Amino acid sequence: GKYRVVSTKAMPGTRWINLLIEQDCRVEICTQKKTILSVEDIIALMGDKCDGVIGQLTEDWGETLFSALSRAGGKAFSNMAVGYNNVDVNAATKYGVAVGNTPGVLTETTAELAASLSLAAARRIVEADEFMRAGLYDGWLPQLFVGNLLKGQTVGVIGAGRIGSAYARMMVEGFKMNLIYYDLYQSTRLEKFVTGMSGSSVKIYQLLTLILMLICFLFAAYGQFLKANGEQPVTWKRASSMNEVLQEADVISLHPILDKTTYHLVNKESLSMMKKEAILINCSRGAVVDEVALVEHLKANPMFRVGLDVFEDEPYMKPGLADMKNAIVVPHIASASKWTREGMATLAALNVLGKIKGYPIWSDPNRVAPFLDENSAPPA
Ligand code: GLV
Ligand code: GLV
Repeated sequence: GKYRVVSTKAMPGTRWINLLIEQDCRVEICTQKKTILSVEDIIALMGDKCDGVIGQLTEDWGETLFSALSRAGGKAFSNMAVGYNNVDVNAATKYGVAVGNTPGVLTETTAELAASLSLAAARRIVEADEFMRAGLYDGWLPQLFVGNLLKGQTVGVIGAGRIGSAYARMMVEGFKMNLIYYDLYQSTRLEKFVTGMSGSSVKIYQLLTLILMLICFLFAAYGQFLKANGEQPVTWKRASSMNEVLQEADVISLHPILDKTTYHLVNKESLSMMKKEAILINCSRGAVVDEVALVEHLKANPMFRVGLDVFEDEPYMKPGLADMKNAIVVPHIASASKWTREGMATLAALNVLGKIKGYPIWSDPNRVAPFLDENSAPPA
């Protein structure tokens, strides 16, 4: 191959490798056994000639690595992740390296994990599993592992981008929860999901009351229809502040990016605003939550439950968290479905290849285009 592309980790599937090989690239995958590579390991891996790198969210892509990549003649870096808080994009720009990430292919998979954690927390699945395995089950009891019914409760979504919107859709459509969301921007993506199945019936009702005879008839018919279906329509709204979500929601799921503005977005004060029996889910980045404050809150409020996929100092947990029965913890696996991980690897390879081969670059001149449609659906 004419170009040398380095991947700091073995990635699933063969498609990503084949794409690169077919296009004149030699692919080198790091063979080190350690889970997390240091900056020095990566510099050694890049060597004196490296056209592009596929890296991981556990690596610190800052000034040191981008200057080394640029010295090796490299012009492209792609994170195999949608999040890029581990990448200093300004440093990359300074050294003429384009940066890519892998949005779209992990949206549904990640939202499904957030939904799984929501259900597991609501129904205390992990505690109950541990109880069973410990041989403690000695007969059905009316009060054994009583949890929360989600139907009719309110789900709060903080950060309504691709993942937050997909999660909202699942909880509203699947479990008939009411929705409140907070985002800096109005999310047409999310609102499109929910308008079809939501509180618009209330507006129809208000409109109809203005038209007399016909109304009475339609209203009665509509009432019959609802009764026949046994359903209350769900309601949804965009909150004017995050605090509104914290105060009103029964289940709150965090889906912002991590940057200076969202660091410790959920802290002692925000936790104190939540309902005593609320459920908090985090599949974004650990540092969005003040984990020390969270442990204190879990200790003081045994009915408050949390489902965490991410942690402030991965791979570590803050002291005390592992002992909390009201916490469910999983090791950053939200995007871990086979289809998604192969898709992420493919997108990362296409990002690097695109820059090397000089394919047209998407909107931001320094960001490599994801070549797949970001709304691309999983295969049937
Ligand atoms: C995973 O955390 C990702 O950002 O893709
Ligand atoms: C519980 O198992 C029930 O039958 O109510």
